[in-house]
Amino acid sequence: MSIVNVIAIDGPAASGKSTIAQKVADKLGGYYISTGNMYRAITLFAMQNDIPLDSEIDPDRIDKILSRLELTYRADPAGKLHLIMNSRISDSEIRSPEVAKYVSKVAAMENVRAWMIGRQRELASLGLLIMEGRDIGTVIFPDAKYKFFLTASPEVRARRRLAQSGETAAGSTVASVAKEIALRDEMDSKRKIAPLKKADDAIFIDSSDMTVDEVVDLITSRARRK
Ligand code: CDP
Repeated sequence: MSIVNVIAIDGPAASGKSTIAQKVADKLGGYYISTGNMYRAITLFAMQNDIPLDSEIDPDRIDKILSRLELTYRADPAGKLHLIMNSRISDSEIRSPEVAKYVSKVAAMENVRAWMIGRQRELASLGLLIMEGRDIGTVIFPDAKYKFFLTASPEVRARRRLAQSGETAAGSTVASVAKEIALRDEMDSKRKIAPLKKADDAIFIDSSDMTVDEVVDLITSRARRK
């Protein structure tokens, strides 16, 4: 039986998923969830606990911090969800270039993904979810009725990421950002567990030459029609 209260949006880094998913949520009156921010939160927590991330990451040390990490969402009065990491709002810290540098390595770990699955699935009890990530249509909600795979050309994605203040290091250029996101996409696509992949039944959208509103309209109309 298909799950009708989840709109799954997957795609590579900086493809516009968060902007689009937030607007689709506003339009349809659902909750926007960035699963990438949840992996970023674990990465930040590992950094705060001085776990070395440059060399091979020790799974036992990750297990230890996961047992002390509480990751939840709290709705503000406007109904927007904020990610709470051990009772602290972590909205901006997790978007730093430092966290971005290590997140794909942390997200590839077996224990991290196992920890995440149940936590992401249980969010469906909140109501209508517009959930974006890499494996929502393939692993987290393979039975979701509405699935989209959103991408854009590497140059367009690099420009979009550069335009997001605080998310790139000082002195970054389109070329340097394109290189960073290409590296992350490669790690995300090649990992063994839950790789970045279009679900067979997802609708493919190349947003390189589309406005945000055009993409939002396409998703909401498809979701209403299907
Ligand atoms: O916003 P951006 O496209 O840069 O990435 P993000 O959505 O914040 O995701 C950050 C990283 O988390 C990705 O590069 C993946 O390594 C990981 N991720 C994942 O493995 N599975 C997901 N469902 C979502 C993110």
